[in-house]
Amino acid sequence: MKASAYLAVSLDNFIAREDGRLDWLKGEAGTEITLSAGEDFGFTEFINSVDTVLMGRQTFEFVYKSGSWPYRGKRVIVLSQSLLQAPVGYEDRIELQYGPAAEIWENLVRSGTAHVYIDGGLTLQSFLKLGLVSELTLTRAPILIGSGVPLFGSLPRDLQFKHLETRSYGNGFVQSRYRLIR
Ligand SMILES: NC(=O)c1ccc[n+]([C@@H]2O[C@H](COP(=O)([O-])OP(=O)(O)OC[C@H]3O[C@@H](n4cnc5c(N)ncnc54)[C@H](OP(=O)(O)O)[C@@H]3O)[C@@H](O)[C@H]2O)c1
Repeated sequence: MKASAYLAVSLDNFIAREDGRLDWLKGEAGTEITLSAGEDFGFTEFINSVDTVLMGRQTFEFVYKSGSWPYRGKRVIVLSQSLLQAPVGYEDRIELQYGPAAEIWENLVRSGTAHVYIDGGLTLQSFLKLGLVSELTLTRAPILIGSGVPLFGSLPRDLQFKHLETRSYGNGFVQSRYRLIR
């Protein structure tokens, strides 16, 4: 089973402000970033390559509040100990699970998952700690936001990646793809 992450990140490695806002990504924070219409930074290609999306509760709440659902046709698992049931309208869209990351991983393998998209800072960190994330796609926005939700955390050992490719976009985003060297 392959696991990949696809995230947008500030130059100082934050994926959201402390309160979850992503205004800095859209140019609403006084920046000159302009998202060009029709440019999805490879997201459609990426999401089409996975069969399962695994996200933390915080990320789910953000997506849920945004009202968009870019995961049609995918199995979506939300990790949470506090969310006891799916919100109304999401009962058929998400499965709630909780437990140690290693157990979640075993369940995914057992259920025949081929490629899982791991999303959310804490969630990603727990799978990185186990050395289970084989590919990282990071899209860097040219902005420092000083504080926020961190992309990375501590690790029990170094994880070395091979750089696969880097693309730059007219709005200043720079996207790099890395594969874990095992
Ligand atoms: N820039 C980007 O590309 C990007 C991408 C994704 C998310 N985001 C943003 O980043 C923020 C979320 O990141 P985050 O690091 O705060 O959190 P997260 O990983 O989305 O969610 C963390 C929560 O997930 C649950 N969880 C994680 N692992 C679990 C496990 N093994 N078992 C049970 N529950 C588990 C816990 O929920 P409970 O407390 O309910 O137990 C935990 O508090 C949001 O603001 C989101 O919008 C940005």
